[in-house]
Amino acid sequence: MFDYNTVKKIFFKLNPENAHNVAEFVFKNGIRFCPFLANELTKRYFVSNERLKQNILDTTFLNPVGLAAGFDKNATMIKMLTALGFGHIEFGTVTPKPQDGNPKPRLFRHIEQESIQNAMGFNNDGMEKVKERVEKIYPFATPLFANIGKNKTTSDEDALSDYEKLIDKFKNISNTIVINISSPNTPGLRNLQNEDFIKALFVMAKEKTDKPVLLKIAPDLEIKDAINICSVALEHGAGGIIATNTTVDYSLLPNPQSFGGISGKVLEEKSSAIFEELAKEFYGKTTLISVGGIDSAEIAYKRIKMGANLVQIYSSFIFKGPKLNRDISDGILKLMDRDGFAHISEVIGVDRR
Ligand SMILES: Cc1cc2nc3c(=O)[nH]c(=O)nc-3n(C[C@H](O)[C@H](O)[C@H](O)COP(=O)(O)O)c2cc1C
Repeated sequence: MFDYNTVKKIFFKLNPENAHNVAEFVFKNGIRFCPFLANELTKRYFVSNERLKQNILDTTFLNPVGLAAGFDKNATMIKMLTALGFGHIEFGTVTPKPQDGNPKPRLFRHIEQESIQNAMGFNNDGMEKVKERVEKIYPFATPLFANIGKNKTTSDEDALSDYEKLIDKFKNISNTIVINISSPNTPGLRNLQNEDFIKALFVMAKEKTDKPVLLKIAPDLEIKDAINICSVALEHGAGGIIATNTTVDYSLLPNPQSFGGISGKVLEEKSSAIFEELAKEFYGKTTLISVGGIDSAEIAYKRIKMGANLVQIYSSFIFKGPKLNRDISDGILKLMDRDGFAHISEVIGVDRR
């Protein structure tokens, strides 16, 4: 019987980035060497239920729990991650040119707080290599989101052209494209969260593709700025909003590093608060995806009631393992029974009605 706590004990003895690399090796090669594994894992972890099924973003989602960006930066683990239960997978952030990211160490666990701090800086293989991998499997059983970002060496003036190249690369091999201008680990990137850039970005995106293009935002924006930026994005064709990325509010941790973005349990309150304000403004007008500190069916359900169509997880997957996917979906079904909802569509945004 697979016991994640044992695996975690071993993994947590390694430094976090080495642990991630070992997991990537296993996830990348596991199904290749053991093809029956995919079926076994899918049976154990993947929840597919008519009551949770949604047709949104021009595709079908069998369950509402997705993998947030940053875990599978290079799209090497998509098959295994689907078998582990994720209802959609956001690969990336991918940049036009390959880049190494920031100097190590750049990934830290805060175990007691069930939180992570990272300053990875978009380490990735670049769009050509990632495209080669994804086009081999697309269209895929599970919706794929391509999360895209500019290279560190690209100036603000040239940033638009980076996003243009990336949209061209991924528009035909992903279900949805996610614009990342909210990572704290590329100097100046968050400055692109301004009206002029966002307008230019979505006007360009609309000319390039009919696929939904979503904006992922930071939790550190003033709420009025967040609403303003999202309004501009939506007015110019954005297909939805993902809130939120990691935070640079270091007061959330007792022993923080002085750099990088914080995710996990300590982000929950902040992420939830900004998501709720955005949902008050945009529920019913667009697709909303909530991410940040979600680690249980109760929290996921709360975000869905606030107005989220889908939720995403990253840090809690590290602390709780793949069973969490099933626990969240099964738990949502139980909460729906308790509250007398037949279908998830009745739950989404019930707080707003
Ligand atoms: C190690 C690490 C790397 C990440 N890399 C990215 C990234 O490349 N692009 C991105 O949009 N978000 C990235 N994120 C942010 C997550 O997608 C997510 O928004 C954030 O972690 C909050 O969710 P969580 O509390 O469930 O982890 C990263 C998060 C972590 C922990």
